[in-house]
Amino acid sequence: MTKPAPQRRQLNNDLRLLARTFGFVRRRLITVFALATMTAILEAAIVLSIAAAGTTLLDGSGSSNSLVSGIPMDLTLRQLCLGVGVLVVVRAGLDLLMIEIKARTEVLYDASARTEVTNAYLEADWNTQSTEQAGGLQAALVTFVSLARTVLTKLIDLSLSVVSFVVMLVASITVGGRVTVLVVIAMGALAYLLRPFIRANRHASARQRAAIGRFSNQVNEMVSMSREIRVLGITEPIKGELGVEIAELKAAGHASSAASYRLQSLHASLTYLVVSIGLGALIFSTVSDPQPYAAMVLLLYRAMVYGRAVQTTYQGVVGSIPFLEDLDERLDLYRQAQRQPGVDPLPTVGTITFDAVDFSYGDGTRALEDISVTIQPGDAIGIVGPSGAGKSTFVQLLLGLRAPTGGRLVVGEHSIADYREDDWSRLVSFVPQESQLFDMSVLDNVISFRPHVTRDAAIQALQAAHVLTEMEALPDGLDTTVGEGGSRISGGQRQRVCIARALAASPQLLVLDEPTSALDLASEEAIRATLEVLKGQVTLVIVAHRLSTLRVCDKVLVITQGRVDAFAERRELEANNEYFSSAVELAKLV
Ligand SMILES: Nc1ncnc2c1ncn2[C@@H]1O[C@H](COP(=O)(O)OP(=O)(O)OP(=O)(O)O)[C@@H](O)[C@H]1O
Ligand SMILES: [Mg+2]
Repeated sequence: MTKPAPQRRQLNNDLRLLARTFGFVRRRLITVFALATMTAILEAAIVLSIAAAGTTLLDGSGSSNSLVSGIPMDLTLRQLCLGVGVLVVVRAGLDLLMIEIKARTEVLYDASARTEVTNAYLEADWNTQSTEQAGGLQAALVTFVSLARTVLTKLIDLSLSVVSFVVMLVASITVGGRVTVLVVIAMGALAYLLRPFIRANRHASARQRAAIGRFSNQVNEMVSMSREIRVLGITEPIKGELGVEIAELKAAGHASSAASYRLQSLHASLTYLVVSIGLGALIFSTVSDPQPYAAMVLLLYRAMVYGRAVQTTYQGVVGSIPFLEDLDERLDLYRQAQRQPGVDPLPTVGTITFDAVDFSYGDGTRALEDISVTIQPGDAIGIVGPSGAGKSTFVQLLLGLRAPTGGRLVVGEHSIADYREDDWSRLVSFVPQESQLFDMSVLDNVISFRPHVTRDAAIQALQAAHVLTEMEALPDGLDTTVGEGGSRISGGQRQRVCIARALAASPQLLVLDEPTSALDLASEEAIRATLEVLKGQVTLVIVAHRLSTLRVCDKVLVITQGRVDAFAERRELEANNEYFSSAVELAKLV
């Protein structure tokens, strides 16, 4: 039977996917399969022994001549019972061993899939990381991995059913070639008839996969936007939005279960139909010796039963493939976007040169165009410009988070990407526009897992960021946990802890994006004084809306519409630059 090309291609793809996903536990799977086959054979031997013992008891001879027809054996009842006992113990031992390996293999898959995907995500470039939706990734790591794990169990069951089916076929060959042909034709016809149900199940799983991803994103958003939802008074519409996705999950779940149950039911009915036809043929045919024909029907029935097991487990595997695909696609996406770690050591941050740098986002938004700027060690550079002008994008390029899409960004003599990531992170610190903290203690946040940041350095940094006294006053002092994202301390405190985190590693280049936006005037002044102390020792690049912050800076870069509008000293800009002079005028009004 030749299959249409697309289906064969799909089967090949599925097999390759299974091999890729479970290849690393191949040996364990083979062992489990071998053990399971042995237990099955032992079980058959036990049944045969018990049957032999039963008949021996009945005929009262006290000994059995043969366990299996054709294999002569002369055993006493005692020997038989002893044999059964030994077989049972051996089988139980093998079974326990198999179960243990199976369980270990399943959790090994869980752990390895989760490790691989999280590691690949962490090693991917910022472009990819920043566009991933938390919910989808969470659904994949928590739910899809568990669903994919069941495929392992089903694969083992599938192979066992296949073995039993093959055994039946082999047995049927001994009775007569015609039965084998019949069984094969009947199974082929059944598989062909039931294909739409298997496809339906797969489609339903793909729908489920998409709905679970979307639903997880919505749940994430529901929690992170809970304040906005309350204040905007949109609890009901949000319930509606979630309801739509829950309904879709329900529909996809129903489609999947229904396809699976229908398949099982139909398979049973069709099996009985085929067997009835066989029986009918036997009854209405005029054969002299009906015994081989009876054996044929019996074998046909047994083969069909195993065939059914093959079909249902196969369906289970196919139905779980969309979840495996999701994990595989993610892994592929992250691995394609792996950062290529540089190898050059970077002892000091030298001159930084933007040489005709362009940058466009993945969606085609051109954020920076033809930027040529040189930053010397020890410079204090301010960056200003209207909202959406490209300041944060400039900062992301400067930090090496994104690579220019045109031109060159050179630090010292090489591009940022050529340097060792460790060296770069040690020498460069950043205070973001939206300060985020880990859900751990204040002190641990300032240290932020960096082995080179000591406890003393962290405390000094808190002092320099003018937040030490406030943090010491918290219930557990510096050991107080700050909550998810730092939600248990105020916005201004969070920002100053972020500044402390940046200062704690004694960076050579300190980049600040709106460092004082959440601060009161007194804290702002204090931070400015800290920056003033750092000036000259550290290269400072400060994005600022507040002109007061710019007092620290020697030169100011004005970016408008993604281009360098001016790069000069403050006073010069006040006199000559339209954007800057009008911003100064506006500031005077405040
Ligand atoms: N992740 C992104 N994907 C696509 N476009 C983006 C992305 N981030 C920013 N942009 C676009 O790039 C341009 C520059 O944005 P950027 O964040 O650099 O502005 P900004 O000068 O920092 O503004 P603000 O002062 O409001 O912080 C804007 O048009 C913005 O819409
Ligand atoms: Mg910005």
